[in-house]
Amino acid sequence: MNSDQRIYLDHAATTPLDPRVLEAMLPYLASAWGNPSSIYYEGREARKALEAARRDIAAVLGAKPNDIVLTSGGSESDNAAIRGVAYAAQRRGRHIITSAIEHHAVLHAVEQLTQEGFEATYLPVDGEGFVSPEGLRAALRPETTLVSIMYANNEVGTIEPIAELARAVKEYDPRIVFHTDAVQAAGSLDINVDNLGVDMLSLAAHKIYGPKGVGALYVRPRTPFAGQMLGGSQERNRRAGTENVAGAVGLAKALTVAYEELDTRNAHLRDLRDHLWRELPRRLPGVRLTGPSDPERRLPNSFSCCLEGLEGEAVLIQMDLNGIAASSGSACTTGSLEVSHVLTAMGIDEAAARGSLRLTLGRDNTRDDIDTVLERLPGLVEKLRRLAPSRPVTA
Ligand SMILES: Cc1ncc(COP(=O)(O)O)c(C=O)c1O
Repeated sequence: MNSDQRIYLDHAATTPLDPRVLEAMLPYLASAWGNPSSIYYEGREARKALEAARRDIAAVLGAKPNDIVLTSGGSESDNAAIRGVAYAAQRRGRHIITSAIEHHAVLHAVEQLTQEGFEATYLPVDGEGFVSPEGLRAALRPETTLVSIMYANNEVGTIEPIAELARAVKEYDPRIVFHTDAVQAAGSLDINVDNLGVDMLSLAAHKIYGPKGVGALYVRPRTPFAGQMLGGSQERNRRAGTENVAGAVGLAKALTVAYEELDTRNAHLRDLRDHLWRELPRRLPGVRLTGPSDPERRLPNSFSCCLEGLEGEAVLIQMDLNGIAASSGSACTTGSLEVSHVLTAMGIDEAAARGSLRLTLGRDNTRDDIDTVLERLPGLVEKLRRLAPSRPVTA
């Protein structure tokens, strides 16, 4: 099968590079390759491009350019936020609150801190993946320094009530830093940091048709923050290392285009997602939809379900052979046989969670793509169920 005929439905893992983003980046790879810290002409040209990119990124966030720290992507932004605040504020307290369904970039950073004597509370979620503001209020303590709750979940698309959660924290103690991982939310939802009331926000370019290996962390002025990458004084001493100028230009262009086209993109994605949501359970028995049932509280491009009696991996392999790229849980856990921590936190039992399937749509997908999936998926699922008939399927 040639790659043009394939149907790519894993945009939560990564997205193709927008040609307009590539075009904006090319000069900074090919000709204007100076080091932005150099004082001569070549350095100044690179610096100009870097600072223009920072201004554009800040504009989308409703922030000041100096509040943007450029990073190597979502994981680094999350790590920098969690560790940066935990260490800088540890004289005041060593208690961190996060949720049970965060990306591992947050969970593993918090876990490591607990091995160093920090305390962590992992807020539970309900059956649709929502963190409760009341639950957060009850978990706050005088020694809490940081709360990190994701804006939208990468596996089931749940949009957390970030403004309400941040407000609850600030009412308790305005010194507590509120961080949100907006890696999946960016390009679909409002990420204005004042509307959300957050102190820190993580972004990654490759989820919004930008390049891989570049991201940003918004840091509100006066947030206690200890840089985690040590060396030179780049990024106002918050992240050492020669800046990725072309990457920053790419992130800025991808974000700007995403927010210019937000409404049309979202309307298109919602239309495709709702079609899939309505049709798949009608055409295939034993489909349990996962995540929010209210389409308004779910990412516009996100569809997820569990297929009874099957292993998600087996379904993915069959889909791949049939020209469809999809995911079972997050890409980062694919390859390990661990059951998704997100689905288990939502109360889905291990057997059902093993049959999870995630389809995340993109702006280039068409109705025809979805109809092709609706035609092919039931047949291949039935075939797999015939081959492994040990687990009964309830309609
Ligand atoms: C919610 C969330 N946070 C963080 C990350 C990590 O981002 P990156 O791959 O850019 O390091 C991802 C990537 O899948 C994600 O979905």
